[in-house]
Amino acid sequence: MLGKYAIPAFNTSDLEMTQGIIRAAEKQKAPVIVQTSVGALEYAGIDELVGLNKAFAREAKIPVALHQDHCHDFNLIKKLISLGYSSVMVDASHLPYKENLKLTKAVVSYAHRRGVWVQAELGRILGNEDWQNVKSGDDLMTDPDQAAEFVRDTRIDTLAIAVGSVHGIPVDPRIKKVLSTLKEHVDIDRVKAIRKKVKIPLVMHGASGVPDKQIRAAIKHGVAVFNIDTDLRVAFNKALRDNLKKHVEVYDPRKILAPATEALSKAAEAKLKLMYTSGKAKGFRVNPSRPRT
Ligand code: G3H
Ligand code: ZN
Repeated sequence: MLGKYAIPAFNTSDLEMTQGIIRAAEKQKAPVIVQTSVGALEYAGIDELVGLNKAFAREAKIPVALHQDHCHDFNLIKKLISLGYSSVMVDASHLPYKENLKLTKAVVSYAHRRGVWVQAELGRILGNEDWQNVKSGDDLMTDPDQAAEFVRDTRIDTLAIAVGSVHGIPVDPRIKKVLSTLKEHVDIDRVKAIRKKVKIPLVMHGASGVPDKQIRAAIKHGVAVFNIDTDLRVAFNKALRDNLKKHVEVYDPRKILAPATEALSKAAEAKLKLMYTSGKAKGFRVNPSRPRT
């Protein structure tokens, strides 16, 4: 799989998002990762959102991995593992290196004993909330040598790398200024340099808005998972607003939401095609070491 195709990890926070994602993957006969953020779990309720996603995963005609996105709360990670997630991301990238290493190691030891895969992050993937104290994009990029050491010492299964992509739509002028110091949206040479030293699958966060050409180049050089949230939200949002404007008489939430879910689903399908994931469902197994719950 490495170098040939990738799997998008789509964020969900509600029924419509999960439904749109699964429909897209089924249409494309593609495996897919459905992931929750801490904010999404707070919004919908842990048992409620996880229960919903598990039901969709169970009924889906394609392999669905359930994953926890950015999380540094060990207790929450334990809970999600007990609820059946096949992988979790422990994100301690905001902490000094040694503390990131310590927490990541502890999570790996806990998760691996239960057959669950762990992703961790090295470097900082910028978001609108992260502009403080950052002078240049390079300050936050993943260092290839440190990445090799981190992977060796933690025994993580996938590594989230900071190579220029950002979370969300940059609105703060300070983050825009930092981004303008980067030559290209994504530093593909850095991806290559990391790949030379790190053999586990690489994960690109903030993959919304990354030019198609760069997504494909990143796949070629070892990025196996792309986290996508914003592009699906934007598609949903646009269709929802258009529909409400066009049909002011509609008051049934299902009729209001259906076109937005459809638009989100189409956007997800486009990502699956872009990442060569279409048609890869057959024979694909989601984390075979994880007992089914
Ligand atoms: O973890 C979530 C993703 O990195 C979201 O990135 O805002 O570019 O869709 P995005
Ligand atoms: Zn992310």
